[in-house]
Amino acid sequence: MPFMMNNSSFKTIEWCDNGLRLLDQRKLPQVQEYCQLLTINEVARAISEMVVRGAPAIGVAAAYGVVLGFREQGTALDLETLRAARPTAVNLHWAIDRMEPLLRQATSESELLTEAIRIHDEDLAANYRMGELGAGLIAELIAQASSGKKVNVLTHCNAGALATSGYGTALGVIRSAFAEGIINTVYADETRPWMQGSRLTAWELIQDNIPVTVIVEGAAAWLMKQGKIDWVITGADRIAANGDVANKIGTYSLALAAKAHDVKLMVVAPSSTIDLSCARGDLITIESRSEDEILNFNGSRIAAEDASACNPVFDITPADLVDAIVTEKGVIRFPETPLAALK
Ligand code: MRU
Repeated sequence: MPFMMNNSSFKTIEWCDNGLRLLDQRKLPQVQEYCQLLTINEVARAISEMVVRGAPAIGVAAAYGVVLGFREQGTALDLETLRAARPTAVNLHWAIDRMEPLLRQATSESELLTEAIRIHDEDLAANYRMGELGAGLIAELIAQASSGKKVNVLTHCNAGALATSGYGTALGVIRSAFAEGIINTVYADETRPWMQGSRLTAWELIQDNIPVTVIVEGAAAWLMKQGKIDWVITGADRIAANGDVANKIGTYSLALAAKAHDVKLMVVAPSSTIDLSCARGDLITIESRSEDEILNFNGSRIAAEDASACNPVFDITPADLVDAIVTEKGVIRFPETPLAALK
């Protein structure tokens, strides 16, 4: 299975000069600027303020944050501020849970750094594997239909190299499927209010010479109605034990529209995104962010004065609307099957 060469000119997360270097995603695509972080609190702030975002990337950044925290405070380091930086993506807790036992008995920073680098590297490897598995699934359905027709896909938010250690989850599948010649068009939802689709996903794909068409979220159902979309492919922030999926707000609407139009929904996420301690999606905490993110645009008020806003930034897609969950450990097709086998 061919991989798309990653032509990307950026590194989302990098350990260098004895600190954590993050690409400031709030400024993309106009400005490519990096922040150098030297304390655990700076890492927590970078996560909550969206310098780094995307579930796996948040987890990797947090792992390096623990290294920085050990340097400042030693084994008694308090991890609560870091844990609370964003509530929905389980990868943040997963990475801290993996680092914490090592932290409590660490005798040197290098022991912790080794583990953080391992988490970083494993995530990259998982993305390549998911790319292969997801593209294989698309190819299989094309073969079953005997049409030989390339597919059109729609992705939401950004689940690419910017949201992970590299290559991406949903965008990893899209990269691999494009390299195989089975994708015709990629649509990217612009993804209000942070515009991860039009700013980040489109920027990443263009760098890899993958043509991308940006749409407003409201156009998705209409394109489906016209037969212009075959697959919706998204990432996830947390997958409950019953297969319910928390992802960027708007994913649930896409899933409903997809079901109504016989469009398939593939969720692509590393096994670190599966939370077996959470039985169902309605138990997942959904982050609410500031009203200003909706009422203002680029620092200027856009909504009518005195209007208020409601800004939940994730939603839950019930498992019965999902056709396949792809992880690096395998593919679950109608995820009423227990996910435990993939952990
Ligand atoms: O608010 P964000 O930008 O962190 O939201 C990101 C998403 O919802 C992604 O789809 C998800 O984290 C998966 S990233 C591989």
